[in-house]
Amino acid sequence: MTLRLLGAPALLLVLACAPGAPTTEQLDAANPVRPLPEAMLGHEAALADLAEAPDPEKARLGRWLYYDTRLSADGTLSCATCHIPEHGYSEPRAVSIGIDGQVGTRKAPSFLNAAFAFYPETFWDGRAGTLEEQAIGPMANPIEMGSSHDVVESTVASIPGYAPFFERAFGDPIVTLDRIAEAIADYERTRISGNSPWDVWRDDEDTRAVDPAIPLGDELFFGRGLCATCHVGSHFTDSRFHNLGIGWDEATGTFADEGRFVVSGKDEDRGAFKTPGLRDVALRAPYLHDGSLATLRDVVQHYVKGGTPNPYLSPKMKPLDLSEPEIDALVAFMEALTGEGYLDGPPTIFPQ
Ligand code: HEC
Ligand code: HEC
Repeated sequence: MTLRLLGAPALLLVLACAPGAPTTEQLDAANPVRPLPEAMLGHEAALADLAEAPDPEKARLGRWLYYDTRLSADGTLSCATCHIPEHGYSEPRAVSIGIDGQVGTRKAPSFLNAAFAFYPETFWDGRAGTLEEQAIGPMANPIEMGSSHDVVESTVASIPGYAPFFERAFGDPIVTLDRIAEAIADYERTRISGNSPWDVWRDDEDTRAVDPAIPLGDELFFGRGLCATCHVGSHFTDSRFHNLGIGWDEATGTFADEGRFVVSGKDEDRGAFKTPGLRDVALRAPYLHDGSLATLRDVVQHYVKGGTPNPYLSPKMKPLDLSEPEIDALVAFMEALTGEGYLDGPPTIFPQ
């Protein structure tokens, strides 16, 4: 009653000073603004030089929101539940498990190095246009975080400790869903991986001692293996959609998941999924949008047989003539793509 008489601003003040709530200074110290990471081996540009360079203040705010379980309906899930740093921001499961233990149909893809993507589309089928648009999705997805956009917005707005950090990031303390998404997306853009053993070797091929499987795997990946026709550039993705025959049921002539077709409505997109980048791929088993292949070797074997025949198979998929040691070399090459620079964990304290 007294609080109601005091009015909203006073209520905020009372809550902000609630015993036990960390002060703005303590929060600032626990999750400081971090400078954007420098360019690493394997990157053509520094993050700061990108047209859509993340803003360090927004990324700092986004780091809290990314790890904040209060954004989910029952307070148990955050983005990091499924996009786990130690697994290259993917997960060690075939498909995601969301709120109330609900099992999804796709695996959480990695967003490492997404800041450098050739095309902005996200999700396995490209249905979200940008990381911002994407970040809004899971909060209200009934089988992911299970909340609603209004509730997420009002929940964050009701946590007074967040207000000073929205003010620093956006110029005023107003909390909107778009700002939440913008902050999380900028945090995601700061998660970049480079300096892998492959990059280090490539930087000085002539003198560096290296497991000979890596140069052989490199030669096959960019040559006879045809891998680089889709896994393009230094982040190993063209960000386009291709059919490898995953999930095709010969008996019924259907796909378990129609992938890109659901978005584009074009027949040629049936069963097509976005090419995943391959940096840190060794940390992301099991593989593919449905987690149906257990190991990197299994994935290479799928390519050796030219994919699973189906009417929509990508014309780039061709049976490969690779020996067992050559298959091992492709695996060794991919294992050498595990880099550094992105590991992170939740801030020790959150705004209250
Ligand atoms: C319950 C598990 C789960 C949670 C929680 C979750 N995600 Fe995801 N995420 C997924 C799955 C599964 C996909 C792929 C969905 C698809 O393609 O249809 C995905 C896709 C993505 C992508 C697209 C990556 C790409 O390359 O296409 C990004 C980015 C992402 N999530 C970020 C987030 C953020 C930010 C949050 C928190 C607000 C979040 N996710 C919460 C499971 C989850
Ligand atoms: C026709 C384009 C194309 C070619 C050629 C291609 N890939 Fe892929 N790759 C993809 C797509 C698309 C996916 C995801 C498919 C899915 O989930 O259904 C994928 C998935 C993968 C994955 C799983 C990654 C993950 O995060 O789950 C690995 C590993 C991989 N490819 C390695 C290779 C290697 C090695 C070669 C060469 C032998 C190769 N690719 C050739 C398009 C291609």
